[in-house]
Amino acid sequence: MPDPRRPLVSGNWKMHLTHFDAIRLVQQLSYALTKDDYAAVDVAVHPPFTALRSVQTVLDADDIPIGLGAQHCHWETSGAFTGEVSPAMLAKLDVRYVIVGHSERRALFGQTDEDVARTARAVKAAGMVPLVCVGETLEEREAGRTEERVTSQARAALEGMSAEEVGALVLAYEPVWAIGTGRNATAEDASSVCGVLRGLVGELAGADAAASVRIQYGGSVKPSNAAELLGAPDVDGALVGGASLEADDFGRIVRAAV
Ligand code: 13P
Repeated sequence: MPDPRRPLVSGNWKMHLTHFDAIRLVQQLSYALTKDDYAAVDVAVHPPFTALRSVQTVLDADDIPIGLGAQHCHWETSGAFTGEVSPAMLAKLDVRYVIVGHSERRALFGQTDEDVARTARAVKAAGMVPLVCVGETLEEREAGRTEERVTSQARAALEGMSAEEVGALVLAYEPVWAIGTGRNATAEDASSVCGVLRGLVGELAGADAAASVRIQYGGSVKPSNAAELLGAPDVDGALVGGASLEADDFGRIVRAAV
């Protein structure tokens, strides 16, 4: 049976690049990627909020089939939430994907499992695709608690979603110890945890949802390790930080998923 899941390779630009730099990078990326790449892989970039409109304008004007993504949002539609941005505001900018529950938001800004669940539901309700991040710390991994940690995070995030909603979302397995450290998980470890997550989706939402949910690996993905990681069973794509800031490197990672 052919694999029903298209790979999704996403660039998380984090707090990098002014809107001018972002325009330059997305243009360089459009030169680095080909029709064949887009035919086989869904590609997305997640610029900072200040660059979303500029990047969206370039994608639209030049008809570049790269999905626009955001890195975070609030769960309410509007209100007195100084500094926050709502799902409706992002949807209006043609944002297609929103990262929810990145470990940096959880660790540095106090985002809880409940916040993640509320935000994922709000992103879905606004017509966008949540990329729900889960992952264990080094301490948890060394204590043999990886599976327990990621399943409890994923279970909480999927709370209150229908089977169809679960099947349409993206999970990202990002071990905290592999983020920005240059130390990636092995393909076997990534595949094994992604398999555990798929099993959990099957248990919570049924076989169809488990077959269609896309599960990315993230954490020090580079051109040199992308083919191995992306070729591993149950890994449907990559969420790339540092290497997504270089068009050639990101292009090579996308090509590893073809
Ligand atoms: P790096 O690829 O820089 O390790 O970052 C991974 C990440 O956090 C993507 O969301």
